[in-house]
Amino acid sequence: MCGIVGYVGPRQAADLVLDGLRRLEYRGYDSAGIVAFDPGGPLAVVKRAGKIAVLEEALKRSPLSGRVALGHTRWATHGRPSDGNAHPHLTEDGRVAIIHNGIIENYLPLRARLTAAGHTFASETDSEVLAHLIEEHDRGDLADAVRAALREVDGAFALVAARQDASELVAARATSPMVVGLGEGETFIASDVPALLPYTRRVVFLQDGDVATVRPEGVEVTDLDGRPREVTVETIDWDAEAAEKGGWPHYMIKEIYEQPAVLQNTFGGRFAEAGDDVLLDLDLDPTEFDRVVILAAGTASYAGLVGETLLERLARIPAEVEVASEFRYRHPVVNERTLAVAVSQSGETIDTLEALREAKRGGARTLGILNAKGSSIAREVDDVLYIHAGPEIGVASTKAYVAMVAAFALLAVRFGRARGTLSSDEGRAWISELRRTPGLLEEALERHEHVHPVAEALAEVRSVLYLGRGINVASAYEGALKLKEISYLHAEAYPTGEMKHGPIALIDADTPVVAVAPKGALQAKTISNLQEVRARDGRVYAIVSDNDSDTAAHADLTLRVPACRELLSPLVVAVPMQLLAYEVGLRLGRDVDQPRNLAKSVTVE
Ligand code: AGP
Repeated sequence: MCGIVGYVGPRQAADLVLDGLRRLEYRGYDSAGIVAFDPGGPLAVVKRAGKIAVLEEALKRSPLSGRVALGHTRWATHGRPSDGNAHPHLTEDGRVAIIHNGIIENYLPLRARLTAAGHTFASETDSEVLAHLIEEHDRGDLADAVRAALREVDGAFALVAARQDASELVAARATSPMVVGLGEGETFIASDVPALLPYTRRVVFLQDGDVATVRPEGVEVTDLDGRPREVTVETIDWDAEAAEKGGWPHYMIKEIYEQPAVLQNTFGGRFAEAGDDVLLDLDLDPTEFDRVVILAAGTASYAGLVGETLLERLARIPAEVEVASEFRYRHPVVNERTLAVAVSQSGETIDTLEALREAKRGGARTLGILNAKGSSIAREVDDVLYIHAGPEIGVASTKAYVAMVAAFALLAVRFGRARGTLSSDEGRAWISELRRTPGLLEEALERHEHVHPVAEALAEVRSVLYLGRGINVASAYEGALKLKEISYLHAEAYPTGEMKHGPIALIDADTPVVAVAPKGALQAKTISNLQEVRARDGRVYAIVSDNDSDTAAHADLTLRVPACRELLSPLVVAVPMQLLAYEVGLRLGRDVDQPRNLAKSVTVE
């Protein structure tokens, strides 16, 4: 995600845009920039790597003037955080500036064609391709040039362009959000409402396929073919703080509901045209390794535990998760044929970073499965598979966990195809199943209300046991951690089959079990274990698949999830577990976005 702000009107624009960027910094904060001008004058650009504070300092030294301005705060996807990769990007003739949020999936062939046609690129980004396409199609009308350029583009975007000869902005939206703010004789455009609230509450939410021409007197909207579209002006009744959450009460619930879109971003552009393989743009050769070591902490380690099973089952390569804080001190056996995968949302977890360094000392090749571009871990691995989850503000990880699991599924398919353990047909089948998962998570989210009775019950107890089998042992660990983090209740997780080897002593009427039991090969054994729990007055709350007609009879309450392949079920069961933790936390009056004692990124040992 990135933050976009634009202004056109009678006032000096740069400061207004900078203020808007500050209010959108939660959308991305690894580099930022502003372009400002008066019609007929030159486009003046100031842009810097780093947070918006760095840009502010640069603007104090080189102030911008002009009554038209575009600003951008970046969450890097293609091209590391740097001054040159920061937005805005200019056309070669310096007459048009663009800012962009999203991913241009076909930017490499477009960049190759434009380079062959004589264009020179100033950055490593996918976004800059848009500036050159607009320049190529510019016959005088900027909106026509933008529409023509976008007809060549595949991917997600929120784009705003401005040309030095006019007091107007041209915006286009596909997937990435954008909203127009209507002032008195001035008009704003932004990725999200918070940037607009100090100036206006009258807004027009752009829709996918919209091309909007924004002028001081208002906005005109067409589709990509230039056909006018009637717009609805809405009035925002949120307060500024609520607006940063897009109207959601907490970042955690906002990010839980973002997960279907996040999965689309994680998968974006990574399914091969033939549909039977995955394109990860990695330098490593999966046939060079004879084992995979996954290094991570907390929730990332549970995503890694899912990844361990996926890699072993699809690519038949030995894989094991190592708790990072232990790995780095136990003189591990690694060598050149080991692939060490560091998994981290922040890319700054010191335990994971030091474990990575230990693996490198042993000669391992290294891969990062990361969210934050330009992070410490990103700079030290040989290669990175970004999960594109966007900034995760809630301290308890939700959307990043699901995106990490999805990234491991992509890696497992790629490794399986490269190592010959997955045929073309099997690869096609897995990709077809992966394409379904955003919709499955949407369905699971639509059942949010079903969680309430279980949340009521758990809010009354002091301790909970989470159980799971197979790949969902990892889900049980993650579900228990979510409940602990958010509600401060004691929760622990065990492989279901392990319960009778001691933990069953915990079971009584006051210690319920959450059984993570989507339909799988070991259903009958799981049912036996649940009967053991209930025979000891233990209450069972089971997460079960829609196509399972047996397990529910052995549970006091059930949370149903859409059916899917067992090996992809961790993606789906994550939703009710996250919602359960959230709802219990609310009932206990917890600060669900910033739970006590926690930090979003643990950069101390
Ligand atoms: C997740 O809910 C926790 N906040 C914590 O376990 C986290 O997953 C862990 O600290 C690892 O963080 P990272 O993904 O940024 O490396």
